[in-house]
Parts: sequence; C-alpha cells; structure tokens
Amino acid sequence: MSEEILRLAGDGIGPEVIDAASRVITAAAEAEGFTVHFVDGLIGGAAIDAGEPPLPPSVAARARDSQAILLGAVGGPRWENHRPRPESGLLTLRQELGLFANLRPVRVFPGLEAVSPLKAPRVDLVIVRELTGGLYYGQPRGLNDPDGPDPEAFETLRYRRSEIVRIVRTAFELARSRGQALTSVDKANVLESSRLWRRTVDEVAAEYPDVVVHHQLVDSAAALLVTDPGRFGVMVTENLFGDILSDLAGGLAGSLGLCPSASLGSGRQGLYEPVHGSAPDIAGQDVANPLGAILSGAMLLRHSFGRPEAADRIERAVERALAEGWRTADLYTGRPGERRVGCRALADRICALVA
Ligand code: IPM
Ligand code: MN
Repeated sequence: MSEEILRLAGDGIGPEVIDAASRVITAAAEAEGFTVHFVDGLIGGAAIDAGEPPLPPSVAARARDSQAILLGAVGGPRWENHRPRPESGLLTLRQELGLFANLRPVRVFPGLEAVSPLKAPRVDLVIVRELTGGLYYGQPRGLNDPDGPDPEAFETLRYRRSEIVRIVRTAFELARSRGQALTSVDKANVLESSRLWRRTVDEVAAEYPDVVVHHQLVDSAAALLVTDPGRFGVMVTENLFGDILSDLAGGLAGSLGLCPSASLGSGRQGLYEPVHGSAPDIAGQDVANPLGAILSGAMLLRHSFGRPEAADRIERAVERALAEGWRTADLYTGRPGERRVGCRALADRICALVA
C-alpha cells in the first residue's frame, strides 16, 4: 500500500528542508515495509509567482482530500507589498481544513545543551496552540480612513466556548498520555475572552480528574519559560499567545530550526510544518537546518498514517546524528567532536541511520 502526502514546499528555505524531510520519510517507510508518494502543490509566494492566489483553488481542493500535508514555509520580503499576502494561503488552509490544534513539542536534545541559552537546560514540553480562532481570524477587522490624518486599524479577539472546549480537550488528552500537568495560559486579569477560556478549562477539567491543571497569565508564563522551563509539561493557549510562546520555547531549545509542528483537526488529517519560517536570508545556500521539517515528518507518520515505528526510527536517527556531532550552522559551537554540515549532508546522514 502506498500512502500519499501532499507536499507544499512554499518559499525561502521551504523547498530545501522539505526535500530533506521527503527523503527521510521515504527511507523510514522503506525500512518499515511500506511506501509513500508525494504530490506537489504551490502555496504562498511560490503560488503568487506562478500567477495564482496564495492558496490556489486546485491546491485547496486537493488538500481537503489529503490525509497528510507536509509544508515548508511561506512568505518573504519579496511579497511584502503583495495583497493578499503569501501568509494568507497558510491561514486559509488551516481554517478550511478545520485544523484547530497546533502541537509544538520543544525539547533540548542530548548533546545540544551548549546551544541552549539556559544554564541548566531542562526543557521537554508541548505547546498546544489554538489555530483557527482569536485575533488571526476574528471579525470585524480592518483599517479605517487609511489615507486620512490618523488612520485606525483593528482586529477582534473572540472565542466561542465550543472552540475552547475542543482545543482544551486535545491538550488534556495529551497531558494524560505524557503523564504531565497541564498549564493553561491566558490573560484573564484583562481580557474577557481569557475569562471565558479559564472558566471553560475548569469545566473541562472535571472530565480529567487525573490531570493536574494550573492557570498562568501569559506575561508571567513568558518569564517562567525562561527562568524555569522544567516546570512545564503541556501548555494550552489561544492562537496569538501560542504563536509567540512557541517561538520563545524554540529559542530555549537552542534553535527554531529544531522545532516541528502538527496541525490537527478532529480526525487523522494533519498539516505538518517546521516552526522556523522561510528564512529568506539563508535560502538556497544549503545551510538551513532540516531537523524541524524531518521531525515534522515523524509527527506525520505517527498521527496521520498510524506508523509509530517509522516515526520512532526518524526520531532515533535525529538523536543519533546529533550525538555523532553533526551540526548545521545554527547548532555549531566549534567544540571538539562537532562536524559542521549542510542541509543535504545532514539529511543524507539521517537517511542512512534510518535505514
Ligand atoms: C507560524 C507562523 C505563521 C503564524 C505565519 C507564517 C502566518 O508564524 O506558523 O507560527 O503566525 O501562525
Ligand atoms: Mn509563528
């Protein structure tokens, strides 16, 4: 049987890290006795350059029928003044597929302690970011009197209870499976939407008496992430808070280039993408870190294809390559035993280890 992956490489370093991840996924599937094949589509700036909208209708249709989508990155300075912006392709895709739960695991890999800015790097957490609501999508939004003397821009932060319930359940299930506490992050001292969020978390908590729940205000959560990240297991929060805190947590791991993500709905369908973005300054130079994309591939195999053995193979191979000292530029410190390599060479090594 052959599993199909819709591949949307996108912009900047997207194509090179997705090529790396594709080769590793193929190798892991082969080692486990199944095959995958890839169907390519355009998104973001790459779609704009081809004369299409950021999410071409044919790609949206294909995505609706796809169990698994692997995405590189969207956006870059080249399209800064283009309307609609390339990022809207990704935002529309998340919303159209109902991918409300964004899982962003962050940990300090053994051997990478020196790359983390922390003195005692104990980080092993998952941020569960609400992905289809909040300020990203709330209506109304707009710009009043754009050419007047004092233009006014506005967004709307709104959440329905049902939207909160489903993301919070996802987080409770994850906390239960990891045997960890759940921290819900909000700004309930100021925001009405956060007060509904907090009340809803407490209601859903009654279904999970075995999971310890804490509430943390987002500003102090940011400080605690930096000073004492070991206290956190699973964190659940709304869309914009999650966007910011997940980059912060990625920084604690030493590089955003290491961080994978899965965007899930209620079924097995998922969109898998590295957290790092398009990094246009280093695109096309074979220096990008492919590990975020490769580890996103492992999440894809686990969640959408139900192939945990193949996913484990990839995660073990990544750990092994790091233990052997293989380092892309973002991870290289010049210590003895480190070997500075490019995106392709690291992917080649991981393919060999996976097999
Ligand atoms: C992310 C990115 C996106 C977001 C952008 C590219 C729209 O920063 O996946 O975290 O803000 O969600
Ligand atoms: Mn982000």
